[in-house]
Amino acid sequence: MPWIRACSVDELDDGDALQLPTVPPVAVFRADGEFFALNDTCTHGQSSLADGYVDGDRVECAWHFATFDLRTGAVLSPPATKPLCTYQVKLDGDEVLVEIPDPR
Ligand code: FES
Repeated sequence: MPWIRACSVDELDDGDALQLPTVPPVAVFRADGEFFALNDTCTHGQSSLADGYVDGDRVECAWHFATFDLRTGAVLSPPATKPLCTYQVKLDGDEVLVEIPDPR
C-alpha cells in the first residue's frame, strides 16, 4: 500500500484537520501533537469530519454531533453507530505520511 504525503508537521496545529482528496476522502487530524488519519465521511451521513470539532483525541461531527475516537475510529456517542476506518500515519522528517490502500 502506498504512503502519500498529507502535509508538513507545521501545516496542522493541534485541533486542526485537513481532507485528502483520496477515494474515499481521508481526514488527517492533529491532536495533542499526534497525527491521526481516518475516513473523512461520517458514518451517519455525508458530513466531512475534517470540518468537525476536535476535542482531545476525539472528533465531533459538525452535523449531528456524533463523536469518534481518533485513535481507533470507534463511535463514542450517537447518532452514528458504525466505526470509521483508520489509516497508518508516520513522520518522515517534518512530512506527515498516510498509508492509503491501493484503489481496486
Ligand atoms: S452526519 Fe455525522 S452525526 Fe450525522
